[in-house]
Amino acid sequence: MAVRIIRKEGDEILRKKAKKVDEINAKILTLLKDMAETMYKANGVGLAAPQVGILKRMVVIDIGDGLIELINPEIVEQSGEQLEIEGCLSIPGIYGEVKRPARVKVEALNSKGEKIAVEGTGLLAVALCHEIDHLDGILFKDKAIRFLDEEELQNESKKGSGK
Ligand code: NI
Repeated sequence: MAVRIIRKEGDEILRKKAKKVDEINAKILTLLKDMAETMYKANGVGLAAPQVGILKRMVVIDIGDGLIELINPEIVEQSGEQLEIEGCLSIPGIYGEVKRPARVKVEALNSKGEKIAVEGTGLLAVALCHEIDHLDGILFKDKAIRFLDEEELQNESKKGSGK
């Protein structure tokens, strides 16, 4: 396992569309482990493969309830609305308010290639949407309706909510 370098805004790869994973082989499993390690090291709650320079549809999330590994994730249901503050490991120091669904259901493959469904509300719904956006080259900044000012930023940075 290894911690990988997190690509920062301005890196073209963050704007590209990631490709579906066809085969879950040793390389993919190593990447999943490295992504988790990289996310934990950076104190993040989520990380998508393009953030470590790999254009594959893979996401890791841990909002504090354990690691979720998703391969080829797709949002199949969504409802409601929430407005929450988001940050991104690829855009350090910037936080903004983004409107997201209050609840989403995501279908994906797990690391064994089994079809799984993950339902999330609150922060998990936000993280699922945020990471799946990364797979399509979309950053939270594109959707933010307001960015936090200095004072708000100081409070937020204490929480550490990077994705
Ligand atoms: Ni992000």
